[in-house]
Amino acid sequence: MDLELISSAFKKNIKQKVIQHYFIKNKKNTIVGICNYGARITHFIITGSKNQVTDIVLGFNDSESYSIANERYHGATVGPFANRIANSKFKLGDSEFQLSNNDGLNTLHSGAAGFHDKVWKVVNRCENEISLQLTHENLMGGYPGDIDCAISFTLTDGDELVMNYQAKSNQDTVINLTNHAYFNLNGEGSSDVLSHLVKINANSFVEIDSTAIPTGNRKKVNETPFDFRDFKSIDNDIDEDNEQLKNGNGYDHSFELNKTDNDLSFAAAAIGDKSNIKLEVFTTEPAVQFYTGNFLNGKDKGKSGVFYDKRTAFCFETQHHPDSPNQVHFPSTFLAKDEEFKSTTIYKVSTV
Ligand code: GLA
Repeated sequence: MDLELISSAFKKNIKQKVIQHYFIKNKKNTIVGICNYGARITHFIITGSKNQVTDIVLGFNDSESYSIANERYHGATVGPFANRIANSKFKLGDSEFQLSNNDGLNTLHSGAAGFHDKVWKVVNRCENEISLQLTHENLMGGYPGDIDCAISFTLTDGDELVMNYQAKSNQDTVINLTNHAYFNLNGEGSSDVLSHLVKINANSFVEIDSTAIPTGNRKKVNETPFDFRDFKSIDNDIDEDNEQLKNGNGYDHSFELNKTDNDLSFAAAAIGDKSNIKLEVFTTEPAVQFYTGNFLNGKDKGKSGVFYDKRTAFCFETQHHPDSPNQVHFPSTFLAKDEEFKSTTIYKVSTV
């Protein structure tokens, strides 16, 4: 695999800004590709014991493809507010903030002004680490404050990709950051992920309406298709006659993690049924959106020439619950002026 050749295909300007693409590596020869367009993960390449090479994330061969794809969030850092905000508005004190709607009447992943469509500045880089920075200007997309955001990706020799997020705003605002990598642990471009095994450390999940907006209720997972407390195959229950599965078009729900503090703890895991590659996710966040790629529709041609169809990948988007600014009883996404926001998520890979 000629990494330099792959990187050079990314280096074409977007929005008159220079696109940079780098690979970070560790001693196990695990390789992660990062592009400053959207501060996104483009490749996650694992070398197995028999030297077989598997890239476990979906993506494209050049930066432009990311900017025109039907699915815009491949691998991206999503913010300033990940997932949905109902009716594209929220209040802070007496001020109401109007966002732009891009999902019916609602805002999804901060709309067109989101971090995924921004060219980030690469501020630091070494063999196994890269840090990027972005300033999101006041009222861009409707969000208050000049929001200064930084993310670093560090690949440890224990095969952990550590993502450290930081943010600070010069006005009161809201913040909810995630990474939107689409995983297929059998390898990018292989068939659907329905036989992957999944485990989620959650006793409850957030109920959604038919527009995927939280109703405000949390539901217990027991005796529902949402019980992933022990490993089970995604297709075990995904086609059950269940209103929540219908509302999400499959799994597309925020699972409330079993934790009582903001410490780094186990959130979720998955195992590729053909590859035996295991992904474990740890986070300081209170929730994870488990999304089974229900809206992938076969229109985007991926990096190995295969069209990405429905459910050919899944996402574990660590986060605060969707629509938190309008749901006072959810963990708060409020970020006070000059206060520092910090969050960490780890993607750890191994072979079982
Ligand atoms: C999130 C949402 C999904 C979908 C994807 C992006 O996971 O919850 O409904 O919009 O992002 O396509």
